Amino acid sequence: MKKSVSFGSVLLMVLVLAGLMTGESPETQPIAYNHYLHVEENAMECRDCHMYAEDNARASIPNIEVCRDCHEDAMSDKEAEVTLINYITENTRIPWKQIYSVPDHAYFSHRRHVKLGELDCTVCHGEVGKLSTPVTEPYVEVTMDWCMDCHESSGISIDCSACHR
Ligand code: HEC
Ligand code: HEC
Ligand code: HEC
Ligand code: HEC
Ligand code: HEC
Repeated sequence: MKKSVSFGSVLLMVLVLAGLMTGESPETQPIAYNHYLHVEENAMECRDCHMYAEDNARASIPNIEVCRDCHEDAMSDKEAEVTLINYITENTRIPWKQIYSVPDHAYFSHRRHVKLGELDCTVCHGEVGKLSTPVTEPYVEVTMDWCMDCHESSGISIDCSACHR
């Protein structure tokens, strides 16, 4: 028993150090993704990629199975597309880092807000379709006060149990 505990803490230390050494921060996405190019220049809809934004709690960040539809073969000689095609041909997940999140003790549903509440994505995420570089920080800080302010001003429930289950 004692042995496995110390092995666990050594492993944890190794993982922490490895994390520090690669110097990865949430600001670095694995591919320099460009929303503007897809949304504005190629008329794609948010839901073409974030497919579950209307029907599920999670909107989802698209991965190779979605990109593959158009990027099986190269359309450009851009470095970002070369990187993408490597993920696709090696059938490896793109390790996107999620920027917006609520902790496990709180419940947020896209379906509720997008479909039932009829809120536009921009209300909470800003003009993402105009970004030519990856999303690096939230448009609004996701705090309880933010949720509460909108609920209060729109007459929506602010019972603790609505969001904490
Ligand atoms: C419906 C088709 C379509 C889908 C699906 C699609 N793309 Fe694209 N993508 C394009 C088009 C069109 C271009 C522009 C190609 C050109 O003219 O250079 C492009 C260009 C790119 C480029 C290179 C240009 C640049 O400077 O950014 C990258 C990288 C890219 N897409 C990433 C992605 C990723 C990641 C996904 C999946 C999440 C994806 N694309 C899904 C159509 C698509
Ligand atoms: C009422 C505010 C609100 C609206 C409206 C909204 N979102 Fe979100 N979004 C959030 C919050 C909060 C999170 C973090 C959720 C979590 O951690 O479960 C999030 C997370 C995301 C994520 C990260 C991945 C995921 O699956 O959660 C994506 C992508 C996203 N939203 C896209 C969209 C799109 C596209 C729309 C419009 C169709 C939209 N959102 C509308 C608040 C909103
Ligand atoms: C061609 C696919 C594609 C389309 C179309 C698209 N997105 Fe995205 N979206 C992505 C990818 C890939 C990422 C992850 C890289 C990044 O952050 O730029 C992302 C990230 C996001 C995030 C950040 C999620 C998080 O928490 O990390 C939001 C919010 C978002 N998109 C909203 C939108 C909205 C709103 C639209 C429509 C105006 C839209 N997207 C259209 C592919 C797409
Ligand atoms: C910009 C306004 C806005 C923001 C910000 C917002 N909400 Fe909401 N929320 C709504 C609206 C509007 C509804 C009602 C949707 C409907 O018609 O069912 C709602 C409904 C809900 C419900 C269902 C309430 C019930 O009575 O069962 C929950 C849970 C919820 N929101 C959680 C959150 C959380 C968690 C956050 C913050 C991470 C948040 N909301 C941020 C506008 C907002
Ligand atoms: C509309 C949604 C919503 C309602 C209603 C709500 N919360 Fe929260 N709460 C959140 C979200 C989202 C977070 C996580 C973000 C944060 O820490 O600010 C949170 C965080 C918290 C935390 C952790 C704070 C921290 O510093 O880590 C506590 C404790 C909490 N809520 C208690 C309550 C109590 C008590 C009520 C009722 C009076 C309540 N919440 C009502 C959405 C809600």
